[in-house]
Amino acid sequence: MALSWFCVRVLCRRGPGRWGPLCRVVGRVLTSSAVARERCEALVYHKHGDPLRVIRLETLKLPQLGDSDIRAQMLAAPINPSDVNMVQGTYPILPDLPAVGGNEGVGQILEVGSKVTNLKPGDWVIPSDAGLGTWRLEAVGNMNSFSKVSNNLPLLCAATLGVNTCTAYRMLCDFETLKPGDSVIQNAANSGVGQAAIQIAKAMGLKTINVVRDRPNLQQLTDSMKSMGADYVITEEALRKPDMEELFKEVPRPLLALNGVGGKSATEILRHLMKGGTIVTYGGMAKQPVIVPVSALIFNNVKVRGFWMTQWKRDHGHDLVQEMISVLCDFIQAGKLRAPVCTKVKFQDYQTALKAATIPFTSSKQILIM
Ligand SMILES: NC(=O)c1ccc[n+]([C@@H]2O[C@H](COP(=O)([O-])OP(=O)(O)OC[C@H]3O[C@@H](n4cnc5c(N)ncnc54)[C@H](OP(=O)(O)O)[C@@H]3O)[C@@H](O)[C@H]2O)c1
Repeated sequence: MALSWFCVRVLCRRGPGRWGPLCRVVGRVLTSSAVARERCEALVYHKHGDPLRVIRLETLKLPQLGDSDIRAQMLAAPINPSDVNMVQGTYPILPDLPAVGGNEGVGQILEVGSKVTNLKPGDWVIPSDAGLGTWRLEAVGNMNSFSKVSNNLPLLCAATLGVNTCTAYRMLCDFETLKPGDSVIQNAANSGVGQAAIQIAKAMGLKTINVVRDRPNLQQLTDSMKSMGADYVITEEALRKPDMEELFKEVPRPLLALNGVGGKSATEILRHLMKGGTIVTYGGMAKQPVIVPVSALIFNNVKVRGFWMTQWKRDHGHDLVQEMISVLCDFIQAGKLRAPVCTKVKFQDYQTALKAATIPFTSSKQILIM
């Protein structure tokens, strides 16, 4: 039984298009029998603190499958800065303890309750809201807590779609009316959000000015970002130099600035905004406040805004979240959006991944592979 279940999982992952019907039939037979498990392994924390100290691999009891629930096997889940902050206890929303780490990831449905009509075994799903605890081997939850994604997406694209990619998409769509040829400036441009913003902006016909911290392998990073569609990659230091005026002879001043850093970096990107433009803060990696020069407010009339994906999803509801996910799946399938630069780490090697996720200049998203 274990071997046949393994085979189904491999076939479903390798070629869901071709093997999809077989996967679904065999999946139903297997899940209705002895395969339904009551326990699963998960990365759990009982108290807040340094993730390397407080996260442990434990066996959890899974809740019983309700009529409107699904049971999914997690396939892959990233380690994002907000996940780390949740474990540390410094994030504005915190789950009750003990908690399972992780908020983003992709799973494959093993079993559905009797009232679930829109999802079936074999489908791939991602969490619709924060708080599922994605660093686990299996999850049981209400069908509306998940959005369906095409199960022929590359695994890493699906695993990183629900938070960072959605954030980049919303910020490019919701704050300014941008038209092809307009430009957008962003800091932390090599972050997961930044890499998604580069690609979605490119697909929208926008130019991107991408600010990163200087590093020994800057050229390698620049090449990687340009291969994703970045028009300009500049360092924080270059941003403060008069040479920026030369750049604005080639490309219009940005109408939109995306700030994932705060501090001086935020002030510098907003100085370059077009009159009346908007700076949207979505992250604070430098842990410094955003300081807006008085002149930028009076003479440039910049708009200072913030964005939180979790709130957007709660305000807009399951159907609109699903609609957004479908649009982004189309981008991926059209070859316009790929996963951020990633390092795949076996679930059991979670400590290696946690360590790498907290080191500056890693420039690679750590993805736990279950
Ligand atoms: N508001 C929302 O809804 C929302 C949604 C998703 C993410 N976020 C936030 O967005 C931020 C980025 O998330 P992510 O998952 O995309 O990150 P990520 O892929 O882990 O990348 C982290 C980024 O932050 C940069 N960075 C780290 N420390 C820095 C510092 N002291 N000064 C300047 N840059 C620094 C890194 O640059 P180096 O390569 O130079 O280290 C890298 O570009 C996080 O703050 C996260 O919480 C918010």
